Amino acid sequence: MIELNFSNMMEEVIGVRGLSKRILEDFQGKVIDVHGQIRDRLWPELAFIDLPSQDTSEIKKIAQEVREESENFLILGIGGSALGPKALLEALSPFHNFTKSPKVFIYDNVDPRTLKHILSLIDLKKTSVNVISKSGSTAETAASFMILWDGMRELLKRRFSKRFIATTDPEKGNLRTIVGREGLKSLPIPRGVVGRYSVLSPVGLLLAEVIGIDSDELLIGAKDIQKRCSNSELWKNPIYLFGTLLYLMDKKEGRTINVMVAYADGLKPLSEWFCQLWAESLGKQEVGLTPYPSVGVTDQHSQLQLWIEGPQDKVVIFIRTNDYGVDIKIPNVFKDMEGLSYLSGHTLSELMKAEEEATEIALAKAGRPNITITVPKIDAYHMGQLFHFFELSTAFTGFLYEINPFNQPGVEEGKNLTYGMMGKKGFEKKRKEVEEYRKKRSRWRV
Ligand code: PA5
Repeated sequence: MIELNFSNMMEEVIGVRGLSKRILEDFQGKVIDVHGQIRDRLWPELAFIDLPSQDTSEIKKIAQEVREESENFLILGIGGSALGPKALLEALSPFHNFTKSPKVFIYDNVDPRTLKHILSLIDLKKTSVNVISKSGSTAETAASFMILWDGMRELLKRRFSKRFIATTDPEKGNLRTIVGREGLKSLPIPRGVVGRYSVLSPVGLLLAEVIGIDSDELLIGAKDIQKRCSNSELWKNPIYLFGTLLYLMDKKEGRTINVMVAYADGLKPLSEWFCQLWAESLGKQEVGLTPYPSVGVTDQHSQLQLWIEGPQDKVVIFIRTNDYGVDIKIPNVFKDMEGLSYLSGHTLSELMKAEEEATEIALAKAGRPNITITVPKIDAYHMGQLFHFFELSTAFTGFLYEINPFNQPGVEEGKNLTYGMMGKKGFEKKRKEVEEYRKKRSRWRV
């Protein structure tokens, strides 16, 4: 089971900038109120909580077909439709494309150079494409899907559509219409489940199965953390504690930046996934917490100086693991050089763990709050726990801020202006706005 250690958030350990036991105890009433909203599923978007009980047989069947038919598996999607799959791939099958098949490519950003490179590396005749979009209308995903559709049709002629899988809304949207019209294979993202809370739906599970990871293990992990965290008592619920501590550090200490530093290369995309979840869910109505992804030990030589002596506006969240699954001993060479020989006989994982702990202590000594989440092992079971832990914490924290943690109204305007520029019907006014804006913008240049 993952463990949350929040000693370095408490005033008893880090001094006056920490939180007191009393403040947390006084907060219990609010926690019970939010717990009620979650328990009674007052928001339809809490549907993600039920994902651990889903039936995975159709996902497994499609994954088996992909494995048999294809050398490459190309995912098209963006935001919640890409970051979860990326986090899974890197954590559970690092350097995948060097050693395993089918090779996996996740194309999210619509950078033409990236797509050109991907297309130069893969044989489309031996590729399965999974287009993921809950709404079915996201411009970036639609554009890449249209390119791949045309390219595969050209190349494969008959039956080319059999190489596409659409992971989308069960009932509506452009992709669902195409599924019906063209007979594509499809997997549903259950109603109510929002993109950034969807990694444990077919969005992440199909990829898991394609790369040989048992999706049920992910779901069992999620189920177990949910059971452990179903208690309304703050002290007994790590999910509620995580949200409460970060919320109170904002309200009491003005710490609005949350650095997530994962001490494993394979978990860096997990912290990027967390950043989307935290930012898009909580940042609205002029509140929110700014997440920032990081990786240890690398960023000790890049960011740590700022965290220890910079502005008092951050909480650092460490993710550490007890077991890297492998280890490498540092050999006994250069025995006569004290500056190097102290390392001999130790292992790389010992060094990683020592550096992580040293950083926690250094921050605590400087009165800088930090939390540590320990993952016993980086495997499917514990990844399921991590995903579900952060999703539940995010919803809980959103309710503490009394905002809707499931929408993203702030990104709509940019989308509408893009539609205007790209000539979408109904967005002519937006195009005019852009033209006006361009006039203003042309004045202040050097
Ligand atoms: O969390 C969200 O809802 C968003 O980040 C979406 O995942 C993102 O905008 C992509 O949306 P869609 O899956 O509808 O293409």
